[in-house]
Amino acid sequence: MTEQGERTNAWSCAPEELEAVGKTMAAFAEGGNLTAALIAVQQEVGWLPAEGMKIIAAKLGVSETTVYSVATFYNRFRFVPPGRRQISVCMGTACHVKRGNIILDSWKRRLGINEGETTPDREYSLDRVDCVGCCAMAPVTVVDGEAKGKMTPASVDGLLVQHGLEDGRGPAATENGGPERGNKDD
Ligand code: FES
Repeated sequence: MTEQGERTNAWSCAPEELEAVGKTMAAFAEGGNLTAALIAVQQEVGWLPAEGMKIIAAKLGVSETTVYSVATFYNRFRFVPPGRRQISVCMGTACHVKRGNIILDSWKRRLGINEGETTPDREYSLDRVDCVGCCAMAPVTVVDGEAKGKMTPASVDGLLVQHGLEDGRGPAATENGGPERGNKDD
């Protein structure tokens, strides 16, 4: 598979997201600044859907390959949609020392996704981030913008329960202790 294929994967965007890309790109003309367009679309839509990349290319008069070349050069761009709930696990130095990797692994197991991914129902996305500025609370996870400190695998489970994971990702909902993934066909 090409890098482009890997980065765009199978996610398709919702009609309203496509509409938002079109509205955002209305401010750009042929030959316009590609990086600025990518930033504007991601700010508006939250990620860069494959269908949106076509619109960007057509509007600026460049090839899709060029659009992907620039977009994949920077880490700031997302090629999967953000979840409605955003889980960010700090892996800055203090959190790394305090075994933040164990916390990240706990989230991965419970959500059934890797970092940089979103659950198929778009409910949760999981990311690794650098220091979020509260090292005294290490290891830290940020849930929907709220920092949770002194994390343990048990507190990952606790947060899942607290956030009402009625769909089966919470520990109490599984018989074998593993996550039960939601999917697009549920
Ligand atoms: S390193 Fe995690 S909050 Fe600073």
